[in-house]
Amino acid sequence: MKVRVFSGVQPTGQLHIGNYLGALKNWAEIQAEYESIFCIVDLHAITLFQDPEELLANIRQTAALFIACGIDAQLSSIIVQSSVPAHTELAWLLNCVTPVGWLNRMTQFKSKAEQQETVGAGLLNYPVLMAADILLYQASIVPVGEDQSQHLELTRDIAQRFNSLYGEHFVMPATKLPTVGARIMGLDDPGQKMSKSAAGTNHAIGLLDEPKVVQKKIARATTDSLPAVDPENMGPGVANLIAIAEACDPSLNKEVFAGLRYGDLKKRVAEAVIARLEPIQQKFRAVTADRCYVDTVLSESRGRVMPIAEDTVRKTKVAMGLYV
Ligand code: TYM
Repeated sequence: MKVRVFSGVQPTGQLHIGNYLGALKNWAEIQAEYESIFCIVDLHAITLFQDPEELLANIRQTAALFIACGIDAQLSSIIVQSSVPAHTELAWLLNCVTPVGWLNRMTQFKSKAEQQETVGAGLLNYPVLMAADILLYQASIVPVGEDQSQHLELTRDIAQRFNSLYGEHFVMPATKLPTVGARIMGLDDPGQKMSKSAAGTNHAIGLLDEPKVVQKKIARATTDSLPAVDPENMGPGVANLIAIAEACDPSLNKEVFAGLRYGDLKKRVAEAVIARLEPIQQKFRAVTADRCYVDTVLSESRGRVMPIAEDTVRKTKVAMGLYV
């Protein structure tokens, strides 16, 4: 049996180059070696309010972008989380072995909760659903960006706790980070990770941004007061631009750019990003030209993963002494 890989993205807006360089690019590169399942985690998205019409459109757009970024629907399964009820069922079972103290310590929970007037219970339990996503398929490898590392540690803690209470049951999943691009920062504020929810128009580069927009956003990116690239002394903005360029084109790095004035650096970075995005955008247009294609892929993938998911839930219930 091939080793299984699982990862997911929230359909909360257009994916950006942080999602691509931190996660999807890696998925496309490793999918042939493993049995891969890539998930659009709509149930995670609704832990914060989503406009229903926009959410549904974003689910389909995210699926189309997975394919456009090189996920091969023949090799990998592309699923929508809410279409496989076993995710929520396992999440409940795992909720019952997860101490609330572990959830209260999650940094993403703390920062998201700070911004809400009322905090839904779903937001606190978010990482348990994430653990369920992974453990449901007994995935050994989870390719993600660095911001998910704490959630992955918690997933292992939950699995270990379950195994010690009920006997060896869950496979321990390993976190797989990309060597470059694991944490892409916002262009307008290199102190903040690039995120779908940040408000600034120059914050993130969307995967569907046109070349002119990409150029403009990079031209406005925050750098520092030095005139040119000094590989030994780079501010966070410049280091971020170079990381973006290198993740897009491995022949580019800080030595290649040494001595380059920031205006010229930005032009070179924009060229590398545009060259990376062009085939993705072309494929996206082709994929979405056929209105039924994405739905067909989602439904076929669902059929493929359902037996695995249902089997895990059944075995988990048996292990816990529930009536199946
Ligand atoms: P999400 O939707 O925030 O992000 C999807 C993927 O993109 C990566 N990423 C980044 N990588 C580098 N730089 C950035 N600025 C950046 N922003 C995002 C994320 O690390 C992630 O890999 N909780 C998850 C979704 C999830 C999941 C799972 C992931 C739910 N269940 C099971 C793995 C396994 C999330 O919100 O990702």
